[in-house]
Amino acid sequence: MTRIAVFASGNGSNLQALIDAIGQGKLRAEIKLVVSDRPDCHALQRARSAGIAVLAFEPADFRDKAHYEGVIAEELAKSRVEYLVLAGYMRLIGSTLLQLYPRRIINIHPSLLPHFPGKDAIGRALAAGAAETGVTVHYVDEGIDTGPVIAQERIAVVPGEGRADLEQKIHAVEHRLYPQVLRQIFQEEEKWPGVR
Ligand code: GRF
Repeated sequence: MTRIAVFASGNGSNLQALIDAIGQGKLRAEIKLVVSDRPDCHALQRARSAGIAVLAFEPADFRDKAHYEGVIAEELAKSRVEYLVLAGYMRLIGSTLLQLYPRRIINIHPSLLPHFPGKDAIGRALAAGAAETGVTVHYVDEGIDTGPVIAQERIAVVPGEGRADLEQKIHAVEHRLYPQVLRQIFQEEEKWPGVR
């Protein structure tokens, strides 16, 4: 059973998809901790309702990123977390966590990277008149959505489609794809520990 921490800043629908996939036996993992930089976000309520431990912090209360990531790292170590799973976490991961979890930090992004990295990827794809967009699951490095791609799924943008419709299609793909891709990664890890 892979021990993970999920990092989220917002609604937490991807966190919910992971909680549900684990509950349904589709993903062999245990969410040891949900970490958030927004103490009032809905993702934390979802975590609490599922009985998952949470670590919420206000970045402004800390000297810098190394300071708060040091505190997060201590908590992760206590529960022997193996993978960090980012699900709508709106901060760049810093060198403290990157060094502690090499190739063990994974993110999901609502575009076909390298197109539309960073914020509001869905809005920018629409504004650019892209014929297709999609979802990318990738390893995290020091850049903004620049790490090695693990999986991608394409989604056609229907001409005249509104933002809400496209967003809904993207989220539906995310909620299916993320548990599926993590399942594969964790399965390989169980077969070949430490090879990745
Ligand atoms: C998702 O679209 C994800 O790809 C992006 O942030 C959004 C988070 O949504 N990184 P939610 O908080 O999981 O509902």
